[in-house]
Amino acid sequence: PRPTPDPGDLLDWYDRNRRVLPWRAAPGETPDPYRVWLSEIMLQQTTVRAVKPYFERFLGLFPTVHALAEAESEAVMRAWAGLGYYFRARNLHACAKAVVERFGGRFPAEEEALRSLPGVGPYTAAAIAAIAFDRRAVVVDGNVERVVTRLFAVEEALPRAKPVVRALTDGLTPARRPGDFAQAMMDLGATICSPRAPACGLCPFREPCAAREAGAAETYPRKERK
Ligand code: ADE
Repeated sequence: PRPTPDPGDLLDWYDRNRRVLPWRAAPGETPDPYRVWLSEIMLQQTTVRAVKPYFERFLGLFPTVHALAEAESEAVMRAWAGLGYYFRARNLHACAKAVVERFGGRFPAEEEALRSLPGVGPYTAAAIAAIAFDRRAVVVDGNVERVVTRLFAVEEALPRAKPVVRALTDGLTPARRPGDFAQAMMDLGATICSPRAPACGLCPFREPCAAREAGAAETYPRKERK
């Protein structure tokens, strides 16, 4: 019989395999919400590999939310140039100003307050609440969708399955270390639970995974026929 997935197994795996990324706090250190926010905005339509050098350079130019809020728009657009989707850079600047003007330069920790900021939607608000403030939030991106649809063999196709995936992710998210849990799910999806040829033998969820048991991990998530 297949065991129930234990988020503790994923956290143990994360402690041994976490990716070192420039916006990530070292284990035991307090994350910087400004860095977490900036990375999540940059990662929305761009890969981790492409974001890394931009993130470092951007942070060198604008090391704090105050520095970014006070910068000239042209300087912000120049630092963003190459990342594309330039509305993100405009929203980024507007968001930095809003954090300074409305929140005294400190990012709020509550999802609802985060969602009131320019360019911060439900996903980004949940990611910041979890990763920067270790609040229990349900963080679902494309990687998490793949992990969860495989783990529970979700037969409904995306995007119709989104509410189901969200409910399953909610059920899996622990009260302890929710920020590490969210990042661990992303890392698992990016490294082990890949779209093609997932490395199931290395997965901390190999035993509870319904798709693997059926020998069909690659066939999830189901997609709507075009
Ligand atoms: N993709 C989006 N956010 C991420 C994060 N915090 N870590 C790794 N990959 C991500």
